Amino acid sequence: MTGKPPGENGAVVGHAPVLLRESVDALRVQPGGVWLDGTFGGGGHATHILEACAPDGRLVAVDADIDAIARAERLRGTLDHPDRMTILHENLRNLDSALDSAGIERLDGAMFDLGVSSFQLDQPERGFSFRYDAPLDMRFDQTRGPSATDLIQSLPEQEIADVLFRFGEERRSRRIARAIVAARESGEAWTTGRLAMVVERAIGRKPGNIHPATRTFQALRIAVNGELDAIEPALQAAVRRLRPGGRLVVITFHSLEDRIVKRFIADASRACICPPEQPICTCDAAPVLRRVGKPVRPSETEVTLNSRSRSSIMRVAERSRPVTTG
Ligand SMILES: C[S@@+](CC[C@H](N)C(=O)[O-])C[C@H]1O[C@@H](n2cnc3c(N)ncnc32)[C@H](O)[C@@H]1O
Repeated sequence: MTGKPPGENGAVVGHAPVLLRESVDALRVQPGGVWLDGTFGGGGHATHILEACAPDGRLVAVDADIDAIARAERLRGTLDHPDRMTILHENLRNLDSALDSAGIERLDGAMFDLGVSSFQLDQPERGFSFRYDAPLDMRFDQTRGPSATDLIQSLPEQEIADVLFRFGEERRSRRIARAIVAARESGEAWTTGRLAMVVERAIGRKPGNIHPATRTFQALRIAVNGELDAIEPALQAAVRRLRPGGRLVVITFHSLEDRIVKRFIADASRACICPPEQPICTCDAAPVLRRVGKPVRPSETEVTLNSRSRSSIMRVAERSRPVTTG
């Protein structure tokens, strides 16, 4: 998440890249080379990577969000050599083909800072947050795909309950799904405020607890953007291009994401990562990755300055050998 100056009490008022020093250090960015930022967002991490790989290193910036892409283009406009940046508007689930199309065959390091950016949360019209009343959209990519409204208008009750349970770990998913389906009858347009109210009426609100709609909003956002499904293909695409010794750095914000990253690194640290349907690997299953250190969490100071970093966790792995193709 991207930086704004601290407020009066030192707290970050807007965006701040999470685990910034830790992640850029872990990537071991050096001058030259090709570095991937798979989640450009506001460009907080990307800016530091570009500085660290100057004067001739290149950054490949990816994001599904056209506002993030516009920010990436503005950043490219400030460079003495704009060809140091390649910008790809794509969902991470298609990272492999996007990198292929851009001719990116080899990476010196790759990082992902998954989830939603403060820019997205703080723009009412994006419909990510019940702090504002706005159309219920929640798409990272505003140019395509069904919105959260499309989802809750069209899915059967049981599937809505499954989404809330799976992606929001919402124990009262059935009751909320029933209330959503009942509320469809009125034909009234869905807004963030209306959904928050429907959820609150369905399961009540306890003083001192998080807002009752928090888990529902998280679940719908993850479902709308296919966030969990994109992680493994993205890591595969990056790791297959990493040079031996190149680092993979991944920051996640909740346990569902972290579990996928942890398992991916553990599996690739044991054996080859070639997908079974694509048997191009002729290796003898020597590990492709080596786990580097323990998972890193933000310091107390960072959490105080930027409460959004609270749930973040960073995992790092290093490419131990090239994938043999043939
Ligand atoms: C936490 S923010 C990244 C913030 C960035 N590191 C910074 O310093 O500003 C995550 C970004 O990744 C993008 N993103 C998340 N999942 C994605 C996916 N599956 N495909 C493409 N972009 C994705 C979001 O649109 C968002 O802009």
